[in-house]
Amino acid sequence: METVLSGARPTGLVHLGNYFGAIRNFVRMQDSYNCYYFIADYHSLTTHPEAKALNENVKNLLATYLACGVDPEKATLYIQSHVPEIPELYLLFNMLAYKGELEKCPTFKEKVRSQQKAKKTINAGLLTYPVLMGVDILIHRAAKVPVGKDQMPHLEMARNFAKRFNFNTKSEFFPEPEAFNFGQELVKVPSLDASGKMSKSATNPNSAIYLSDEDKVITKKVKKAKTDSGPTEPNQEKPEEIENIFDLMRLVSTEDTVNHFDEAYNNCTIRYGDMKKQLAEDMVAFVAPIRERIKSYRQDEALLAKMVKQGAEKARASASATLQGAKELMGMRYF
Ligand code: ADP
Ligand code: TRP
Repeated sequence: METVLSGARPTGLVHLGNYFGAIRNFVRMQDSYNCYYFIADYHSLTTHPEAKALNENVKNLLATYLACGVDPEKATLYIQSHVPEIPELYLLFNMLAYKGELEKCPTFKEKVRSQQKAKKTINAGLLTYPVLMGVDILIHRAAKVPVGKDQMPHLEMARNFAKRFNFNTKSEFFPEPEAFNFGQELVKVPSLDASGKMSKSATNPNSAIYLSDEDKVITKKVKKAKTDSGPTEPNQEKPEEIENIFDLMRLVSTEDTVNHFDEAYNNCTIRYGDMKKQLAEDMVAFVAPIRERIKSYRQDEALLAKMVKQGAEKARASASATLQGAKELMGMRYF
């Protein structure tokens, strides 16, 4: 079975974009691949160093994975900092990575800009972020990495590190990992205010729906979603904000419901109030059970602790085999 690895930074609440873009695929893949899913707590320290928030976010993300259906019996679910082989291989990989390529990395440049904008410092960990990410993947010699498009530069760097290591050690020790998309084309869940994709770093708090939102909050956010004054001629092309509402509806409503409003749009009888009311209802029906499961897992700290302990054991077994193999190839087994 092929090895799949993916992770997310515990930097805030999980929204519908994270669910449909990432977590749903984690769940679908766990039956047919050897899956490792982890919480990138070290990575979050590069931009989000606050201890209390980190602690809460890690537990919340764990509870969210479980609530969405990630099954720790099928996939190995762990916290990055529970696997000390990762920082050890990271140290070795820092000597494989070039300063110039790290400085050129588009995600680094982007993060530098946003740190500067927020008047925050830029630490060395931010520069070597792609090295740590390469290690996350290669520590299990994973070949497939389900991530969004924004992560492509990091994957390309991971492939370079793998190639360099193999070249230096005249081996084929590491695979060259590829981004992986399960099923249909990549989904982009739009924000509710037509400001691009749904994102936890958006400035408008009403633009994203979180899996932990209460029913009333969801209904309020959907009601406030941006619309226009309505179509003026039949079969008119939909402006972005209207297309977004349809896109969101396609995720949570039945096909009949979507078709009904599509027809109404096309013959100019659509009432956005009705459409949003239906969308809010379907969104609530979708989110509420997940939210309640998140709450119950979140309260059961003993269960969460036991689960990540088991996950760390499984992850460490695989990680230490890789680390030992790599050190041996590098000539580091001395006696
Ligand atoms: P955010 O942009 O909200 O900070 P992250 O960068 O932490 O989210 O992304 C975590 C995962 O969720 C990634 O795999 C990313 O591709 C996916 N993701 C985030 N937002 C969306 C969205 N609006 N639509 C689809 N996938 C998304
Ligand atoms: N950089 C990823 C993000 O921002 C998180 C991440 C860290 C990751 N290490 C990884 C994703 C390894 C996949 C594989 O979303």
